[in-house]
Amino acid sequence: MKNLIKILILLVSSQVLASGEGAHLEKAETNIRSKESLRNGAKNYMNYCSGCHSLQYQRYKRMAEDLGLSKEEVEQNLIFTGAKYTDHMTMNMSSEDSEVWFGKAPPDLSVIARARGNDWLFSYLKGFYKDPSRPSGWNNTVFKNASMPNVFWKQQGIQEAHFDEHKLDSGVVTHTFDKFSKLTDGTMSDEEFDHTVRDIVNFLDYTSEPAKLIRLAYAPWVLLFMVLLVLMTFLLKKEFFKDIH
Ligand code: HEC
Repeated sequence: MKNLIKILILLVSSQVLASGEGAHLEKAETNIRSKESLRNGAKNYMNYCSGCHSLQYQRYKRMAEDLGLSKEEVEQNLIFTGAKYTDHMTMNMSSEDSEVWFGKAPPDLSVIARARGNDWLFSYLKGFYKDPSRPSGWNNTVFKNASMPNVFWKQQGIQEAHFDEHKLDSGVVTHTFDKFSKLTDGTMSDEEFDHTVRDIVNFLDYTSEPAKLIRLAYAPWVLLFMVLLVLMTFLLKKEFFKDIH
């Protein structure tokens, strides 16, 4: 029994650590039904992220069909790598090269929204702050010591993070995130920046389960069918039983 409790405590604490040392996550408030948001997310994803990250389970063609984009729009605005319309959304950089450049290969993001959750992604992309002690010059409040550079420093503006210090009874000192303050203004307002990041997270939510859009579109029809089926069964029962007394 004691061992069981110990294992439970270990499990819970490792989960807390894995989720960013209990960092406060901001609500992403994405809307997967908004095609406009998904299209904007796809555009921004291709511009800001696809140079380093792949979406190896997603094809350009599938994305175009799901988001209501034409073949020409995709080829002209969203494919930067010389890939074909029917190809998977991989990238040109090899993982060996990127490991040398960043110390860690940028992971494939196909199912990242399922692994991390939308709120985590939203907070992560907004959580980069200046930290001269890191090789890249950046750190992150939800993913400590992440080796990804801050791709949005111009748009968001450079921010500094402030932490509260707590001294535990055991003498260990811990830091919890308090707030950000801006060192420079970004080219986007806070609302515009939230909007940009929210749409990218929405797009990543879609790529993690492209069938979700179809499922949501069919759902009302399936429910209507069930209601009609129950009604017909009921009428049929009445018809069958009407001569039985
Ligand atoms: C310059 C290259 C580069 C660009 C551009 C870039 N990333 Fe990254 N990204 C990385 C690297 C390297 C890591 C690995 C970080 C680590 O594990 O320390 C990473 C990690 C991540 C992770 C964490 C994955 C995990 O381990 O859970 C997410 C999420 C992510 N990137 C999303 C994005 C998004 C969204 C964009 C576009 C807005 C983007 N990245 C742009 C290099 C990049």
